[in-house]
Amino acid sequence: MSETDPKSKVVPSANDSSGPKSDSGLGGNPNSESGGSRSGSASDSLLGRLVVERGLATQAEVDAAFSALRAATNQTRTFTDVLIDGQIVTRRQLARLRTESESDKSVLRIPGYQIIRKLGAGAMASVYLAKQLSLDRLVAVKILPHRYSTDATFIERFYKEGKAAAKLADPNIVGAFDVGQVGDQHYFVMEYVDGETVYDRIVRFKRLKDRDALTITRQVASALKHAHAAGFIHRDIKPKNIMITKANLVKLADLGLARAMSDKKSAEAERHQAFGTPYYISPEQIRGAIDLGPPADIYGLGATLYHMLTGRVPFEGRTPKDVMQSHLRKELIPPDQVVSGISEGAAEIVEMMMKKAPRDRYQTAEELLEDIDLALAGQPLRYASRTVDVVGIASEIEGNADSEIQTSDKSKAAFSGLAMALIAGLSVLCGVLVLTLILLYVFLKG
Ligand SMILES: Nc1ncnc2c1ncn2[C@@H]1O[C@H](COP(=O)(O)OP(=O)(O)OP(=O)(O)O)[C@@H](O)[C@H]1O
Ligand SMILES: [Mg+2]
Repeated sequence: MSETDPKSKVVPSANDSSGPKSDSGLGGNPNSESGGSRSGSASDSLLGRLVVERGLATQAEVDAAFSALRAATNQTRTFTDVLIDGQIVTRRQLARLRTESESDKSVLRIPGYQIIRKLGAGAMASVYLAKQLSLDRLVAVKILPHRYSTDATFIERFYKEGKAAAKLADPNIVGAFDVGQVGDQHYFVMEYVDGETVYDRIVRFKRLKDRDALTITRQVASALKHAHAAGFIHRDIKPKNIMITKANLVKLADLGLARAMSDKKSAEAERHQAFGTPYYISPEQIRGAIDLGPPADIYGLGATLYHMLTGRVPFEGRTPKDVMQSHLRKELIPPDQVVSGISEGAAEIVEMMMKKAPRDRYQTAEELLEDIDLALAGQPLRYASRTVDVVGIASEIEGNADSEIQTSDKSKAAFSGLAMALIAGLSVLCGVLVLTLILLYVFLKG
């Protein structure tokens, strides 16, 4: 927390070189006395961000500091000088920020990159904010756990997917920049998205308005259109893999990674801890299908849209297995039954996206885009309409025979035994009935 009253903070003229010099560069220009850089470098932006994130100052104060720095005629003056002289942060606070940042940096050294701080961690990896030194730009670096380094199939796939993903250029896809290995750890360098995930947004607002949820979904569908055309199936569409920039541009993350991660051997090894609770997984992925097509991603995006609209995941369960069983068998509660006021168009789109059988869903992202545009324009949809997904449910139950979470052999045997007994019973009953009729006929005739 701030050690000074934020209201009393003033940003002095940047020409004012009086006052104490900063002793905390936090990655700034090492030639400067204060260690900060002259103006607006990536390190300065990061420092400004950290100061706001830690609640030491408001964004307006940091912006004012940047303006003051830009207007400065004194060339030796740095961003940290302006922050300290303006009593926006104290030297102690800057030193503390630097210590935190250093402790994260010590995690790993990647040639060509300066690790700045941890951005987050998922079940399988950690993601760091870093500076790519050659281009002086901020990037996000995903570091994979050690255990992957021994799996040759995974590594081969990781590099292959990384290279392919790097060829994709789309405003709605987080750019893939580099893959590499340092020591026995593999890393994936990607575009840094300064914003939040859809998951963060759901947590913040509980649920999103129809129009906002559809607009986000539209942008992901557009990313999928591009990715699918290039032969990618994402396989892990979920709120945590969809990022939103401060300008509300939606970016799909981890393209190319999911396929490497879903390599059978790695997936087996991860099954209990890292697979996580599969709230957004398609029925065909649960069954272990290998020939996944665009409808698998459309299902994941449908489950994400459901979560955005209702504030609830489509299927809850005590264990991942329970949730997966529900994806396979349980009828979806229409989103507008969970929350009233959701438009019929949005509800119909979700239901079509989440049909149990892939053939009953939108077949392509283009079809989905068309319906979303119609819904946003308040017009009737072209593809989605409300019907009970009987065929889908039946085929999924049937498909369950191949499923990893199939009915056990024992219960199947018990079921067929019961069926046989029933048939036998019915045959005897029919026989008795026919015999009775014959006897009755003979008796009456006689
Ligand atoms: N390109 C990026 N730019 C900025 N932040 C990112 C970026 N990629 C990931 N993050 C942050 O790092 C966090 C961890 O990402 P990661 O992909 O490892 O896991 P996840 O997608 O959140 O969850 P899971 O492990 O279940 O897939 C994300 O939630 C997000 O906050
Ligand atoms: Mg992710």
